[in-house]
Amino acid sequence: MSSTVFATLLDRIQSRRATVGVIGLGYVGLPLAVEFAHAGFDVTGFDVDASKVAEINAGRSYIPDVPVEELAAVVQAGRLHATSDMSLLAGMDAIDICVPTPLRKTKDPDLSYVVLAVEAVAATLKPGQLVILESTTYPGTTDEVVHPMLEAKGLRADADFFLAFSPERVDPGNQSFTTKNIPKIVGGFGPSSTEAAAALYESTVAHVVRVSSTRVAEMVKLLENTFRAVNIGLVNEIALMCHKMDINVWEVIDAAKTKPFGFMPFYPGPGLGGHCIPIDPVYLSWKARQSGFECRFIELAGQVNSSMPAYVVERVAEALNTVRKAINGSRIHLIGVAYKRDVNDIRESPALDILELLTRRGAQLSYSDPFVPQLKHDGRTLTAVDLAQALAAKPDCVIICTDHTGCDYSALVQSRTLVVDTRNALKHEQSPLIFAL
Ligand SMILES: NC(=O)c1ccc[n+]([C@@H]2O[C@H](COP(=O)([O-])OP(=O)(O)OC[C@H]3O[C@@H](n4cnc5c(N)ncnc54)[C@H](O)[C@@H]3O)[C@@H](O)[C@H]2O)c1
Repeated sequence: MSSTVFATLLDRIQSRRATVGVIGLGYVGLPLAVEFAHAGFDVTGFDVDASKVAEINAGRSYIPDVPVEELAAVVQAGRLHATSDMSLLAGMDAIDICVPTPLRKTKDPDLSYVVLAVEAVAATLKPGQLVILESTTYPGTTDEVVHPMLEAKGLRADADFFLAFSPERVDPGNQSFTTKNIPKIVGGFGPSSTEAAAALYESTVAHVVRVSSTRVAEMVKLLENTFRAVNIGLVNEIALMCHKMDINVWEVIDAAKTKPFGFMPFYPGPGLGGHCIPIDPVYLSWKARQSGFECRFIELAGQVNSSMPAYVVERVAEALNTVRKAINGSRIHLIGVAYKRDVNDIRESPALDILELLTRRGAQLSYSDPFVPQLKHDGRTLTAVDLAQALAAKPDCVIICTDHTGCDYSALVQSRTLVVDTRNALKHEQSPLIFAL
């Protein structure tokens, strides 16, 4: 059967007659579904969250990287439709799985979302379907977990159906590199699977890079994110060192990056956040440990990066000390709680750890963040306040946690408030009231 089903699938993809299903319509899945729709495919988005399904079908975007008008246009054109009805997977030629891959409390990989999604695919799997896992995960997941589940009813991978791994590399909030122009890595269970998946992405993204296996593709993504985690860990350690040695780390980095080769700038900050950099390296070290290998760099970077929120709190204590105040009883305002600039994602955000540590030490807290109107903290819901309003209340200290574009710091500087600046947002200001990281 294999050559016929393969040729038929390839023809349907290349002529854009293929139906494409995207499971998981979050930061990764929704932009991808919109790109497939732009490419001319008939796209169905699947999500267990009924509110997301309703928002999409109403043409409303909840992901900042997907402009409302773009989403509304593909929905109105009938190119994209969302559902929670997993039985509709039966009608898809290609299925992309973009569900979360978090850690358990024990810091082990939590593949439960992937397993549930693959169960749904397996329940209706048909000859000729292409299944691609995009969720970030440890090397071996596609071969060892997804593959046996899909073959359970007798269809064979790379012959009757096609199976590949293709990591998502999107960087939310990045205006220059998006789902469309970031090269796509593709590794299939076998050669036909690689070609089918590559054909699908070649219709949609600018450049496709084929690798020899699903394991290599899985490892590529973990190398990329481990590289970031380790380099951020290194620069955070250099920042701590520079503070002790009274050297401005930001000036050092700015000068070092003038070297046209052999150096790439990474910046210190209040700690790692988001669904990727703090988590993905742990997937890798967990899997490596099963082969008797200890990932020392990953562990060390994790220790340095996770110590940063406590260091920020110490800087706040030092700042308050200069005006004879304690954290206990002080009113402290955070600017930015999202884990990075210009996103509304607070998953693993170091601001949450800073809020927690300051609460334990008796601070009274408020925050501003145009991307995050509300926040659950310490059993309560905090509501963002306008920065001007916060400054009018004369806080004892302000922490710049996230430097969203467009934040006007002039009123902050003029207010002569103590500031702990974890992002070098006030680099042009000289004031004894400003405490850099
Ligand atoms: N956010 C990023 O910047 C980013 C970048 C690259 C890769 N990734 C990886 O992509 C994957 C998805 O991340 P995300 O940030 O898009 O997550 P997300 O939480 O924003 O979205 C996941 C979506 O999947 C849905 N979902 C969960 N289980 C489901 C199921 N069984 N069936 C249908 N829908 C289901 C959820 O309701 C949610 O809408 C993760 O593996 C992540 O590591 C994320």
